[in-house]
Amino acid sequence: MEKKQQENHKGQFGSNIGFLMAAVGSAVGLGNLWGFPYKMGANGGFAFLVLYLILVVLVGYVILMTELALGRRTGKGVVGAYETLSKKYAFIGWMGAIAPWMILSFYSMLGGYCIKYAIANLGDLFGAGWGVNGQDSGAFFGEFTSDMLQTVIFSLIFVILTVLVVRGGVSGGIEKFTSIAMPALFVMLVIVIIRSVTLPGASAGIEFMFKPDWSAFEGTGWITVLSVAGGQMFFSLSLGMAIMIAYGSYIPKEQSLERSALVIPFADTIIAIMAGLATMPAIFASGLEPGQGPGLLFITLQTVFNSMGKFGPIFGFLMYGLVFIAAITSSISLLEGITAVAMDKAIEKGKKPNRKKYATMLGISIAITASLVSIDGLGANGFPQFFGQSTWLDSIDLISEGILMPLGACYCAIVIPTAWVDEEVTLNGNKFRTKRFYDFCIKFVAPVMMVIILLGQLDSFFGLGMFS
Ligand code: PFF
Repeated sequence: MEKKQQENHKGQFGSNIGFLMAAVGSAVGLGNLWGFPYKMGANGGFAFLVLYLILVVLVGYVILMTELALGRRTGKGVVGAYETLSKKYAFIGWMGAIAPWMILSFYSMLGGYCIKYAIANLGDLFGAGWGVNGQDSGAFFGEFTSDMLQTVIFSLIFVILTVLVVRGGVSGGIEKFTSIAMPALFVMLVIVIIRSVTLPGASAGIEFMFKPDWSAFEGTGWITVLSVAGGQMFFSLSLGMAIMIAYGSYIPKEQSLERSALVIPFADTIIAIMAGLATMPAIFASGLEPGQGPGLLFITLQTVFNSMGKFGPIFGFLMYGLVFIAAITSSISLLEGITAVAMDKAIEKGKKPNRKKYATMLGISIAITASLVSIDGLGANGFPQFFGQSTWLDSIDLISEGILMPLGACYCAIVIPTAWVDEEVTLNGNKFRTKRFYDFCIKFVAPVMMVIILLGQLDSFFGLGMFS
């Protein structure tokens, strides 16, 4: 009955591999492609990677399993899932629904930037007037980002594409799209890596990423590194909000949750490292320094492509194309997370959950917020700024990624009964092999880590220097 209900109403993944593609697609996003390699290089290299992996296992794995189990057990999106546990926890659900809605505003803008850059590189390939045409990358970027009309148009294209996939449903839209897009992303990534690591001077980039730098851990440095790695892990795995709960609610009961909770972080981490190999060696080979934030992706990398001669535009097109794929498979999951909440509310009222209608309505609201973030032009257009940040993107990121996500994950670790997870994981005679490990980590390690991450995020956003 429960299964039938899910099928009739909100949808279900058709196969385990389809679900994994969608979940890995959600996890692999802008966070992996430039956040990870840069943070790894700047925070201890190989030492950071080791710490990151430990966090993935001790915290990411258990929270991911909890969220997937909560979703599948209740068959609901984030708000309904927490309400099923207790009405008094509804607020956790709403926090988990607001965060993706906020993230979508800047994610769509950055996704729009990727479309623009993929097209511009294509233009260069054909020697067209709409290419980068050898202009200085910083100037090209500045001109584009402060051109309100253009950035709004590209953001809207990205929102429309996201809405179209989500309107297609779980198996007919999300699963179908991600099952083609993720392998394509992988192939494109491999091609770019081969070029990047074979450039003369590429080894400096590999060294930047992997050279163990224990000095980053000295004094209270380890707390900073821990919180950077934790924040990254957790954004990268799409945890602490609506996403994995919604996707969990579409997993058929016979599939093993334990295996999925292992595969998703594993794939996400491998792709993050591969992203580093695609970018860092090329950046160093061109004699550039990796910078943080959008500049790394859109200025530094474009400079690299400009300097690669006639093959540059091909690699530029491949790179921005693959970042676009990574971004859209994540934005699809963000929109699905909140569409699921709207559909649940309709079902509660005895109405038919009209997926197409809700996805479109929410898409329109995001089109508005994405347009607003776009016209800010990363702070270049002189609008007032908030919370001591220099762009609207950063302010929204502060509230969503900096506060709501870690809080959501912390609550998730504390309030979801381990017995629920146990029952869900062992359905259909599946064994819960890591049960003791899970119980220990979810009770003791995850909540403590979430608090450290929360403090670390606030520290870095406000430059408080708490840990320095
Ligand atoms: N995991 C995505 C990334 O690494 O870019 C971003 C993201 C997607 C965060 C979905 C949160 C989320 F719910």
